[in-house]
Amino acid sequence: MAESKDHLWKAQDDAPEPLEDLVKTGAHPLGLDVGTSKVVAARRDSKDVACSFQLNAFIPVPYSPVTERTIAQQSEIHHFRDGGEIVIFGSATDRFANMFNAETRRTMADGLINPNEKLAWPVLEQILKTLVPKPTAANEVLAFSVPAAPPGREAQLTYHEATLRKFLQSMGYRAMAINEGLAVIFSELEDHNFSGIGVSCGGGMCNATLAFLSIPSIMVSLPKAGDFIDRSVGEAVGEHATRVKVIKEEGLDLTRSPRDKLEKALHIYYEDVVETLVETLRGAISQVDSLPKTDRALPIVLSGGTAKPRGFRELFERALRSRRFPVEISEIRMSADPLTSTARGAHIAAMFEK
Ligand SMILES: Nc1ncnc2c1ncn2[C@@H]1O[C@H](COP(=O)(O)OP(=O)(O)OP(=O)(O)O)[C@@H](O)[C@H]1O
Ligand SMILES: [Mg+2]
Repeated sequence: MAESKDHLWKAQDDAPEPLEDLVKTGAHPLGLDVGTSKVVAARRDSKDVACSFQLNAFIPVPYSPVTERTIAQQSEIHHFRDGGEIVIFGSATDRFANMFNAETRRTMADGLINPNEKLAWPVLEQILKTLVPKPTAANEVLAFSVPAAPPGREAQLTYHEATLRKFLQSMGYRAMAINEGLAVIFSELEDHNFSGIGVSCGGGMCNATLAFLSIPSIMVSLPKAGDFIDRSVGEAVGEHATRVKVIKEEGLDLTRSPRDKLEKALHIYYEDVVETLVETLRGAISQVDSLPKTDRALPIVLSGGTAKPRGFRELFERALRSRRFPVEISEIRMSADPLTSTARGAHIAAMFEK
């Protein structure tokens, strides 16, 4: 009798704890996706996880007292004064760029703080302040995403990560970095014990991570994603990259034959990005001497804004199936919400850090 009772208790102990039960009462862990195009914050809001975001972009306009006063009266326009200019930043930027027919500027390029932009850090700091509230308790955990080191740019990644960590610590958080691909695994592959391949195709970069039981074995990144597509298509057809971006986001369908020159170029560069990504991933997995042994095939999850067009999953699958891939793949699926996967995954990672 006693034996069977013990067994019952053990079975209960082994049942996985629901994720929300990991969090101490009163704690509010935060997940932050610091992306080239967007910064997204995820945190628990009563029962659900809520995400908020800002465009990671800005545009300076000439300063005058009237302009400053007019802008200040509109609460949704984030801005600060910088000498003879007013810097508009975050999600209002696109509206101003359209109004003045000017290109927006970015704090990050190819996944990292842009070393060629003098306002990069001052603006990124302001953007983060709009999304990251004061911590509710001492040492509140905040997990922020970082890309895998691009080959030859390891030192730049160290600078990027340390700058973000120091700033978030100065706000009172216990800040930890999480690899972007691993964050996707955290948000999408809980049902596979956090084992599989997480892919994020964003604005500045594609990132992919292969993990077993949440432990990353391979992390790759390439500086080719949405921005590269916009720029390359623009150069090929003589159109501004900003205009290409709008057309692309309005409804590119990769399952349909291209109807004009611009669509044809979009298909060509999408194929280029996906082929390069799959080949980079294949090469990295092939080079590893021994991967943890598993008798199960691994799932792949696709996320990020660049993965959104119809037909992206099929394009990725074709590129994968046309090669001898070094690990067996069970399925290729889309993330539930490609634009928030990284932030939601970072939030889960923060919840685990008690
Ligand atoms: N519906 C859409 N169709 C096609 N592309 C889209 C769509 N929505 C967003 N994008 C593209 O996705 C990219 C931004 O994706 P995302 O927000 O995941 O990037 P990020 O996380 O900010 O950047 P990164 O991870 O590279 O640092 C941009 O290139 C944007 O044009
Ligand atoms: Mg991203």
